[in-house]
Amino acid sequence: MNASSDAKIEVAIIGGGMITHDQILPSIYHLQRLERVGEIRICALNSAPLRALVEEPNFVEAFPGQRFHAYPALDQPPEKAFPMLYEEVIASLPPRSLVMVAVPDHFHAPIIRAALAHDQNVLSVKPLVLKYAESVEIEKTAHGKGLFVGVEYHKRFDRRSLEARLQYRRGRFGQFRCGEAKLVEPFYYRSSNFQNWFTKENSDPFTYIGCHYVDLVYFITGLRPVEVSVRGVEGKFPNGNVGYLWSLGRVTWENGAILGVLNGLGYPDEAAGTNDQGLCMFCEGDGCGGMIRHDDQFRGVSHAYVDRQSGAAFRFVSPDYFRLVPWGGDGLMPVGYGYDSIEANVQAALRVNLAGTGLSGGDALLQRQRTLEEIDRQGIVATPANSCINELVMEAARLSIAANGRNAMIDYAGTPSARLGG
Ligand SMILES: NC(=O)c1ccc[n+]([C@@H]2O[C@H](COP(=O)([O-])OP(=O)(O)OC[C@H]3O[C@@H](n4cnc5c(N)ncnc54)[C@H](O)[C@@H]3O)[C@@H](O)[C@H]2O)c1
Repeated sequence: MNASSDAKIEVAIIGGGMITHDQILPSIYHLQRLERVGEIRICALNSAPLRALVEEPNFVEAFPGQRFHAYPALDQPPEKAFPMLYEEVIASLPPRSLVMVAVPDHFHAPIIRAALAHDQNVLSVKPLVLKYAESVEIEKTAHGKGLFVGVEYHKRFDRRSLEARLQYRRGRFGQFRCGEAKLVEPFYYRSSNFQNWFTKENSDPFTYIGCHYVDLVYFITGLRPVEVSVRGVEGKFPNGNVGYLWSLGRVTWENGAILGVLNGLGYPDEAAGTNDQGLCMFCEGDGCGGMIRHDDQFRGVSHAYVDRQSGAAFRFVSPDYFRLVPWGGDGLMPVGYGYDSIEANVQAALRVNLAGTGLSGGDALLQRQRTLEEIDRQGIVATPANSCINELVMEAARLSIAANGRNAMIDYAGTPSARLGG
């Protein structure tokens, strides 16, 4: 089997749900059109979500003539499950392709391991995994084989985050001292596939979406979190499963700063939002205050439609995250930090592949490892090495929420670990 051409990469997306629909597939279709991506395969648990992706009218309009290979095949009965088919799909790829992991959080680790075992680069939706030890194992395995692993923390690619990082690191805000972050997803999420997996033992709103802002504060400041407390509010999904539907977290950073993090699945479906999110960081300089405030919900664009195709007549529109807009070519093109993030990760995988082009054996591996270390050091694309504080925070959060909000500490001495405090 030939390796992917080094200027182009084959992609297998594992998971055909909401994030694949909203961000990953349209981005990958566009990159295919730009000849960065070759064949696209998508593997889901059953054929139903794949059929929905093929028939999605927005994709038919935006990407005329483009298709993906569906696993299982579209003519399989929609209720028939293929839980291990992803292994065959991964095994069928040329080495050094890109496996994109877009399945529920607790299922990322086995797919990433299977991808690395088959010499594939990986891009996982956040959170990479739920345990720090797993992220270290993934980092070591990938580095040992010269493979790229990225974590899709797309808020890093929002231009406001990049600007804040630049100016914070120039000292323009002083030191972060106290702040708050909020991300509340729509109420209707409760009726989606979430109800089948977003149960107390698997996840919670802090782990699911709070991690974006924890990663962002780390991305902007470089400060490491040292203490986490998360209190959850339980509720029932429509199918009767019990989950944490709201959470309030508090993260303490190594300089003593505190961040409050409010998350939930309950933003009113008819409200303009279409979710609620933002970050405010109060800082201190020499005898004065500094501040970073991002309204990530209302980005200055309101639309009142004469139909209800968007679920309600009046909506705040975010051109910043992800939109399909007219461009100079056929169909529509994706714009926004959702696209920029996927593009940057695909570029990183291509860059690592290219570093070994024309070399063999140990020489190719060495050059690829150097490139991986450079990507880790740059800290823009999230990798296990430069974003593993997130796994520590998630571990601490899961301990804390199960103990009704008791403090959990993160120790960085020796092997970093999380444990419940007194
Ligand atoms: N803002 C973000 O970064 C963001 C937003 C949404 C989701 N996500 C992440 O994306 C992941 C998926 O979330 P979602 O909302 O798309 O979930 P979803 O429930 O809509 O979709 C999950 C998909 O996984 C597939 N799947 C489950 N088991 C499988 C198996 N054994 N083999 C192949 N496919 C399998 C299902 O068929 C389904 O298509 C989660 O980790 C979530 O945290 C991230």
